Amino acid sequence: MYKVMTNEYIGDDMYILKAEGKFKGKMGQFYMLRAWDTYPTLSRPISIYDIDEEGITFLYKVIGEGTKIISELRSGDSIKLEGPYGNGYEKVEGKVALVGGGIGIAPLYLVAKNIENCDAYLGFRNEVILEDEYKQVCENVYTTVGDTFVTDIINVEDYDYIMTCGPTPMMEKLVKMVEGTATKIMVSLENHMACGVGACLVCTCKTKGGNKKTCKDGPVFWGEDVIFHG
Ligand SMILES: Cc1cc2nc3c(=O)[nH]c(=O)nc-3n(C[C@H](O)[C@H](O)[C@H](O)COP(=O)(O)OP(=O)(O)OC[C@H]3O[C@@H](n4cnc5c(N)ncnc54)[C@H](O)[C@@H]3O)c2cc1C
Ligand code: FES
Repeated sequence: MYKVMTNEYIGDDMYILKAEGKFKGKMGQFYMLRAWDTYPTLSRPISIYDIDEEGITFLYKVIGEGTKIISELRSGDSIKLEGPYGNGYEKVEGKVALVGGGIGIAPLYLVAKNIENCDAYLGFRNEVILEDEYKQVCENVYTTVGDTFVTDIINVEDYDYIMTCGPTPMMEKLVKMVEGTATKIMVSLENHMACGVGACLVCTCKTKGGNKKTCKDGPVFWGEDVIFHG
């Protein structure tokens, strides 16, 4: 069990929670969060937003029962955190674009802290949040709100690599946009999970190399390998 240091609503339906302790984790990996005893049954997977000397930070959106309970935690309350799990983004060299839609911006902050020479494209539903934070770790930050999408403003050929997380239609569109170009893309899938550690197969996704476990083989895959429909 870890102690919650802060847990605040920061806008656009998102909250940010920091827990105290020494944590490990690479960009794109996740933890299983639990702030209840028996119900709901399953812990909830949430990406690492940041890790520093004081603790670990998660950026999350309230969707249902689990994230609602997490949003009600106060400073000093206990939270169970298990991880880090999964295979995250590969470290690459070259010009990189980080493309996040909605809560999909969450894992990209730690990526930006770990690689040089990156631009961020962040798409929001109602309002821009965390722009200053991303500006501190990225060369340029471009944002969209509402009906303009990040896919409308990015020229994928300006980049050697794209690392993305967000709604499946957004990631699928980006994968199509890089087809036939020299740009490579990594996507972070958010398939529903149960165990989070490769034991239950709930999170199976289809790739050109056969069925994979999103929690253990992913959540990050090379875009060209993922079969989005099938
Ligand atoms: C690898 C990974 C990383 C993620 N990182 C983040 C993050 O950084 N911030 C964030 O806000 N959300 C993230 N999610 C989504 C988050 O796990 C779900 O929003 C959350 O589990 C919903 O739980 P709930 O009890 O509030 O909702 P409910 O709808 O009550 O959940 C019911 C069940 O469905 C699962 N579920 C529901 N929505 C999703 C979803 N979109 N993806 C996966 N499982 C889901 C829950 O885990 C639970 O087992 C991530 C998901 C995955 C797989
Ligand atoms: S969530 Fe159980 S195998 Fe992936």
